[in-house]
Amino acid sequence: MMKIKNLKIHGKTFLAPLAGITNLPFRRLVKECGCAVVCSEMVSAKGIFYNSKNTVTLMTSREDERPLSVQLFGSEPQSMAQAAAFVENMGVADIIDINFGCSVKKVVKQGAGVALMKEPKTSEAILRAVRKATDLPLTIKIRSGWDRSGLQAFALANIAQDAGVDAIAIHPRTAAQGFKGHANWDHIQQLKQTLSIPVIGNGDINSVEDAARMFSQTNCDAVMVGRAAMSNPYLLSQIEDYVNRGSYKTPEPRDIFRKMERLIELYVAYFGETHAYRMLRGRLAWFVKGLPGCSAVRRDLARIETSGQALELIRAYETPMGINAD
Ligand SMILES: Cc1cc2nc3c(=O)[nH]c(=O)nc-3n(C[C@H](O)[C@H](O)[C@H](O)COP(=O)(O)O)c2cc1C
Repeated sequence: MMKIKNLKIHGKTFLAPLAGITNLPFRRLVKECGCAVVCSEMVSAKGIFYNSKNTVTLMTSREDERPLSVQLFGSEPQSMAQAAAFVENMGVADIIDINFGCSVKKVVKQGAGVALMKEPKTSEAILRAVRKATDLPLTIKIRSGWDRSGLQAFALANIAQDAGVDAIAIHPRTAAQGFKGHANWDHIQQLKQTLSIPVIGNGDINSVEDAARMFSQTNCDAVMVGRAAMSNPYLLSQIEDYVNRGSYKTPEPRDIFRKMERLIELYVAYFGETHAYRMLRGRLAWFVKGLPGCSAVRRDLARIETSGQALELIRAYETPMGINAD
């Protein structure tokens, strides 16, 4: 069984941190389907320092989603260390993760996220300061680097391992690539060969078969899934089933509709009706992608004015399929 420091990981799948997406309700949905570890949205170390209400909200958690990895971003060793100590004190995190991969301008401009991959000295100072500040399992999430060589990833990974980091997740695209082109899984395999700590492979897993291919090509210890979980929250549990039993079930449309209803319920309870229905406009449409005649319902879901309307649309879409339980 994979261990990150002293934390036993019961499974092989991590839900990737996705800013604006992996809030508590979405994490609960994916966890209820089945997965080993869920990750928070990225949290600003400075935001914690200034005790911003929004930042603290990002770290709201519940016992039933644990283990939870809380991801921090920032560029100053001292504020990162303070943030890590704060997160440990809050008692919500089982893992602290540091973001070395975000390529969004706002983050890179502060010298945080992937900008750190070209600053090995600052990166090392951050890692050593954070390691000193917390006893929690510590992970980092990196890209391949600035250029195609993957050299920055290997340099940083070695620095991290020496500084006491307990596992590394890699999304093997370069900073310049953003989300374009393909993730270069060779870098996952090479990192796995180089390091003694666990390596979590990430990037372009859209199906169970992709995950199986990543395991066999790279020998990674676990896989991390981001975008594909947004339209299929069952994907991580399907990967777990495949790893354990060699087979997995494809959810029926009925199962998908029940999950959509569950997401509505979780969103409304957490965000309140007004906020929830606006956010759900985009989220729900992802789930029906690929189902027969989905384009009309996707269009209508994008225009809902209440969460009740979303429920009505789901029922109306489901009934002609002859699968409505009522
Ligand atoms: C909308 C969105 C938000 C993201 N937010 C974060 C983040 O907060 N922290 C992070 O480390 N990576 C973030 N990522 C990158 C993902 O965690 C992941 O590395 C990337 O999407 C590749 O994995 P995938 O092909 O499974 O989606 C984000 C990606 C997307 C699409």
